[in-house]
This record gives sequence, C-alpha cells and structure tokens, in this order.
Amino acid sequence: MKVLVLNGPNLGRLDLRNSAIYGDMDFAALADFIRKSATESGFDADVRQSDSETQLISWLHEAADAKTPVIFNPAAFTHYSYAIRDAVDMLKAPVIEVHLSNPLSREEFRHTSVISGVVHGTIGGFGPDSYRLALIALKALI
Ligand code: DQA
Repeated sequence: MKVLVLNGPNLGRLDLRNSAIYGDMDFAALADFIRKSATESGFDADVRQSDSETQLISWLHEAADAKTPVIFNPAAFTHYSYAIRDAVDMLKAPVIEVHLSNPLSREEFRHTSVISGVVHGTIGGFGPDSYRLALIALKALI
C-alpha cells in the first residue's frame, strides 16, 4: 500500500541545520531511511519535501482525493498554519504527525501544534526513528 510522507520547510536542508537537534542525516539519507522502513512495514513510501505551504496543501488535497495515508512532518508550519491544518482535516485515510526533535522540550513557540488536533497521533523526539515508528503505527491502524 502506498503512503505519502510529506516534509515541510527547511527539512530539505538538514545538512545545514543544528545536528545536536536534528542529527547527522541529510535529507537524501533520511528519505532513503524512510523508504527502507516503509518496505519493512509493507508500504511503498512516496517521500516529498517542500518549503512552500501552497505545494504542501496541494499534495494534501491529492492524498485526500486518492484516500492515501499520510505521514507528515509539517516542520515550522506545525506551529501556526491553519491552512495546512484545514487541509489535513480533509484527509480520508489515517494521518500521523511526526517530528525529528521533541518540540515540547524546546522553545515555547514550538509547544503549540495546530496540526495535532486533526491527526490520529503524533510521534516526535526519536530522530529518523520517529518516521519508522509512525509507519509501524500506521500499519496497525490500517
Ligand atoms: C520539526 C520541529 C519544528 O519545530 C521545526 O520548525 C522543524 C522540524 C522536527 O522535525 O523536529 O523544522 O518539525
């Protein structure tokens, strides 16, 4: 079964971000890790990244139309994008929010997720394993 794994702004440049928070994998390595983990859980992962809210919303609409399950790291949009929240709310198949870091242990502005209220669950703080755990959870849900 197909799963769409969406990644928001700045995740495409993990190589430039604080490795103490985000680890040592660049985005290409993370995408490979996600695809391999997906295969292990019986999924075929379509891994995408965009810095654009418009693009992410259009991919969410595509997933809603096709009833495709979604694993989503909205990155900074997590904390303030009502437009992305509304698009996530339209999804028909399960959707899981993931974060590499644990936003609740970081700055106060990261403690709010406007997305969490419209997803099945949230997994954060385990680095790339957040995605692997989300795939396991998704398999159990479907
Ligand atoms: C993030 C956490 C967000 O607060 C941050 O803006 C990101 C990445 C994570 O994966 O830990 O860009 O979603």
